[in-house]
Amino acid sequence: MSINRKVQTLDEFTIQQLRDFPQATGELSNLLRNIGLAAKRVNVEVNKAGLVDILGDAGTVNVQGEKVKKLDVFANDQFIKVLQHGISCAGIASEELDDFVAFDDEKSIHSKYVCLFDPLDGSGNIDVNVSIGTIFGVYRRVTPVGTVVTKEDFLQPGSSQVAAGYVVYGSSTMLVYATRRGVNGFTLDPSIGEWTLSHPDIRCPEKGKIYSVNHGSFFEFDKGVQSYITACQQKSKEQGGPLRQRYVGSMVADVHRNLIKGGIFMYPGTSSKPDGKLRLLYECNPFAFIVGVAGGKATNGKIRTLDIVPSSLHERCPFFVGSKLMMEELETQLDQNG
Ligand code: AHG
Ligand code: MN
Ligand code: MN
Repeated sequence: MSINRKVQTLDEFTIQQLRDFPQATGELSNLLRNIGLAAKRVNVEVNKAGLVDILGDAGTVNVQGEKVKKLDVFANDQFIKVLQHGISCAGIASEELDDFVAFDDEKSIHSKYVCLFDPLDGSGNIDVNVSIGTIFGVYRRVTPVGTVVTKEDFLQPGSSQVAAGYVVYGSSTMLVYATRRGVNGFTLDPSIGEWTLSHPDIRCPEKGKIYSVNHGSFFEFDKGVQSYITACQQKSKEQGGPLRQRYVGSMVADVHRNLIKGGIFMYPGTSSKPDGKLRLLYECNPFAFIVGVAGGKATNGKIRTLDIVPSSLHERCPFFVGSKLMMEELETQLDQNG
């Protein structure tokens, strides 16, 4: 059997990048490798979800007061274990935990990075075999290396991320990962258990045909959002006709599709929940970073998502993210109706 040498694995890719940057220590690459390992373990369980007794509620509620599925707990535990036993992470914060976790062993306190993640996004879709995901953001700690991390290491604006990414457990499993140098997508080859570079240098098209929003809440959105949505529906023939509405209910899947094809994803505030649903640190900031590096934009309707200075670990914010020109059209509608 001949080996296809066009295929580059995640490890080969990061080694290649390290060669281009001789001053790099490899710590970030190692952290990414650990995230890839945890994601592979989660992937195995996600694929078995219909077969084994892992479905259903774990019987607890998370810090947002939502029901936790067993797979959320499993994914959360996997990411913590793998990162704690690695040598490149000084602590984590997770959507599933009330507080951050500082890794206080001798090797972890000498790590430069902290990692924030939503271990399983779209978990309401597990029971019905629809794509779900993992989202993560990586920051350089602000406290001195050699000490135990504190909350201020986690409460940094998204613009301080050094890397961010997501895994989509879909018809295939993909890891998409961004640094300031670019966004690259790796598909898991299940036959060899390797992440292989399938989507090099992802760029988000300047505009697309898709808008993604929960239409059920339309009458709870403010005027600006409503008029943007109406404008999407009323595009003339010359403008390419009405846009397509696509909303999976797993943000990872929705934003992934829009990143590749061009589009806009919105989770606005509503009259009953002015800050919306999504969490700034675990969901919005990583996507704002990834889409931004790929050429798109992200805001809370007022300022750039990446410029929001967080005040608590679990704060939520309205979120608009996507193709540059579509985001600019949205911003115009919000200004005119503000
Ligand atoms: P999680 O499963 O981590 O709680 O996140 C689900 C999120 C997001 O993925 C999705 O876009 C959104 O919830 C869907 O919410 P609505 O059903 O309110 O539209
Ligand atoms: Mn989520
Ligand atoms: Mn989640």
